[in-house]
Amino acid sequence: MCGQGLRLRALAMRFGAVQALAGIDLEVAQGERRVLLGTNGAGKTTLFNLIAGELQPTQGLIEWMGRPLAGLAPHQRARLGVARTYQSSALLETLSVRDNLVLAVLGARGRQWGMWPLKGGDGAVLAAVAQARAGGLGALLDSSAGLLSHGQRRQLEIAMALAQQPRLLLLDEPAAGLSPAERPALIASLRALPRSLTLLMIEHDMDVALALADRVTVMRDGRIVAEGTPAQVRADPAVQAIYLGGGGHG
Ligand SMILES: Nc1ncnc2c1ncn2[C@@H]1O[C@H](COP(=O)(O)OP(=O)(O)O)[C@@H](O)[C@H]1O
Ligand SMILES: [Mg+2]
Repeated sequence: MCGQGLRLRALAMRFGAVQALAGIDLEVAQGERRVLLGTNGAGKTTLFNLIAGELQPTQGLIEWMGRPLAGLAPHQRARLGVARTYQSSALLETLSVRDNLVLAVLGARGRQWGMWPLKGGDGAVLAAVAQARAGGLGALLDSSAGLLSHGQRRQLEIAMALAQQPRLLLLDEPAAGLSPAERPALIASLRALPRSLTLLMIEHDMDVALALADRVTVMRDGRIVAEGTPAQVRADPAVQAIYLGGGGHG
C-alpha cells in the first residue's frame, strides 16, 4: 500500500455514550477496490461521514493523497476528489435523469447556478451521461427520476457521484434493495470504472463484495476485525462467526 491513497490512523468517533469507531487504522491504495463488510452498527457509515467531512472525528487522522483532511468542509474535500453516494436516495424526483446529472455537475463546481443550463457540450455532463448509459439508463435520460426502478436509481446515484469527477468514490451499499436480476448490471458497471478511481464501498452482499474487491476489511463494533483478499476473508474464522453465527446483516 502506498502513501498516496487513503490513510486513516487511530480514527475514533463517539456519539455521547456510543463509541461508534474505536480506533481505525486503514490504508487503501490508489486505484484499489476495497470493500467494507460489517454487521449493522459496526460504524461503516460513520467512517464514510468522517472521510467525506460531514462529521469531525473525536480523535485520529485522515489523509488523502498525502494530505490531511482535518478541518476541511465536504465541498473542499470534493474539490480534492472525494465523492460519495448515500444509503438513502438524494435524487430530485420531478427532474429528468439528465437534469439530475447536470445538477450533480453544477453542485461539484460549488453552486455556480448562473451557469444553468449547460446541457449541451459540457464535458463533465457528457461524461456523466455516458456513465448513465453504461448503467443502462440510456433510454431514460429524459424521464423523471421518480419513475426509475430501484436498480435504476442506484445507477443514477452512482452516475451523479461520478459527475463530480472524483478520485476517491465512497459507495454506501450500492446493491441495497436490488433484485438478484439487477445485481449483475451493477457489478459490471462498477467493474468498468477506470483504475484512476479509488473505490471504497460498503456492501453486505457477499457475492457483490467478493466480485468487486481487491481487498476486504471487516468491521464489528467500531473496530476492524479482519482484512485481506476476498479468499482470505472468506476463510477467516472470525468472519465466519460473524456471518454464520447470528451477528446479523444490516
Ligand atoms: N449521528 C449519530 N448520532 C448518534 N449515534 C449515531 C449517529 N450515527 C451513528 N450512530 C451510532 O453509531 C453506531 C455506528 O453506526 P453506523 O456508522 O451507522 O453503522 P453501520 O453503517 O455500520 O451500520 C451505531 O451505534 C449508531 O447508532
Ligand atoms: Mg450504514
